[in-house]
Amino acid sequence: MATQTRAGRKPYDHAPPPPTHVAVIMDGNGRWAENRGLQRLEGHRAGTRNIRRVIQAFAEHGVEYLTLYAFSTENWSRPPDEVDGLWRLLAEAVDREVQDLHANGVRLLHIGRKDRLARPLREAIENAIALTKDNRRITLCVALDYGGRVEIVDAVRRMLAAGIKPDDVTEQAIAAHLDTAGIPDPDLIIRTGGEMRLSNFLLWQTAYSEYYATDTGWPDFSEVEVQQALAAYAQRQRRFGGLDPSRR
Ligand code: IPE
Ligand code: IPE
Ligand code: MG
Repeated sequence: MATQTRAGRKPYDHAPPPPTHVAVIMDGNGRWAENRGLQRLEGHRAGTRNIRRVIQAFAEHGVEYLTLYAFSTENWSRPPDEVDGLWRLLAEAVDREVQDLHANGVRLLHIGRKDRLARPLREAIENAIALTKDNRRITLCVALDYGGRVEIVDAVRRMLAAGIKPDDVTEQAIAAHLDTAGIPDPDLIIRTGGEMRLSNFLLWQTAYSEYYATDTGWPDFSEVEVQQALAAYAQRQRRFGGLDPSRR
């Protein structure tokens, strides 16, 4: 799947500019561990340890926004031990990584529900967001307890609460009430772990995103894989419903 080639087709003359925003569905941790005879949680541990090099790699390629899907609103339905273990590892990762992210010019943002995060984690995230707010090298947006549908429901609620009139309900107004307000739509969605689905990720924002899927599990998604995904993106032709640029 990662090797989807355009056999027999010429590369397009009009390569898109490099993506401004890449969003990653970090999947395949559990199978990565099971394939090695390890507990699923060991896969999540290896997964959280992979985040640092991937951020660095995307930053080096000039990507301005990187969104990482770390826990979905549906992931609560897993066995309690796995859910507890995941949150523990995610909280440890925030504590371990924040100073390094800050030193590397990373600005942190969060999308997703805040009300179900354990208070110490919520506070650690709030503090990290405040600490890194002026950093400009790359923006890292962490999707934690995130679901695309609940994000849209919450946006509609906020619009109604603000008294927005029917005529003022526009695409721009909806976008401005989503958790991602102010963040450009993702140009490229990467999914590791081999599945070909969105799993409730950025439903509104991905209307015209390019997709890239690889069988590689998230813990093994390396700098080389980052390069391969960006190279695949460079072969795409984005038309946004219009025509090939040579025929405009
Ligand atoms: C992704 O890995 C991490 C989360 C969803 C939290 P999975 O745990 O879904 O790994 P697989 O898909 O079972 O291999
Ligand atoms: C998507 O992976 C969510 C995250 C990577 C955080 P899942 O493993 O939860 O997705 P499904 O259940 O296979 O669709
Ligand atoms: Mg999965």
